[in-house]
Amino acid sequence: MHHLLVAYGSTRGGTAGLAEMIGEDLGAAGFDVEVRPAAEVRSLDGVDAVIVAGAVYANRWHRDARRLVRRQESALRERPVWLVSSGPLGRSAHAAEIPPVHQVARIMSRIGARGHVTFGGRLEAGATGFPARAMAAKLAGDWRDPEQVRHWAASVAGELSALDAVA
Ligand SMILES: Cc1cc2nc3c(=O)[nH]c(=O)nc-3n(C[C@H](O)[C@H](O)[C@H](O)COP(=O)(O)O)c2cc1C
Repeated sequence: MHHLLVAYGSTRGGTAGLAEMIGEDLGAAGFDVEVRPAAEVRSLDGVDAVIVAGAVYANRWHRDARRLVRRQESALRERPVWLVSSGPLGRSAHAAEIPPVHQVARIMSRIGARGHVTFGGRLEAGATGFPARAMAAKLAGDWRDPEQVRHWAASVAGELSALDAVA
């Protein structure tokens, strides 16, 4: 379990940043980690375990994350996989344990994912596009919490090491 892939689907960069944080934390825990946009992943050869992170827009997981799962479904079923959703804005972001949206819950069972976590998101004040600009006028900010990410990454690292020990 040494080569890990953190793949992300991100429209405005917030989830890409979370993926980088996860990658750094797992790298610091001793794993060899590659962080890449989900749309660029064409093969999981040589990858031992996978984390797929996707932004949630209108209760749907980012298309790039969904497509990666569809393309690599059988390869993902053979590997330990964790899914990440991002993310609620405002006070709701730090409610304990936000469950996956329906779509992500289905994907989890399809590929036998080991776990899922929701991290707070980010919406920049200068966001463009509809309806992001209107939302940003009311609710801009960054609710990504590096400490929470570190904590979660440590639990994943622990599970991966345990899998190694029984291999
Ligand atoms: C138009 C719009 C719709 C959103 N819908 C949801 C949602 O349904 N659930 C949620 O948790 N977050 C929602 N968000 C918050 C985003 O998931 C959050 O901003 C996230 O960090 C965006 O990730 P990205 O920067 O990687 O694109 C929405 C944001 C926007 C702008």
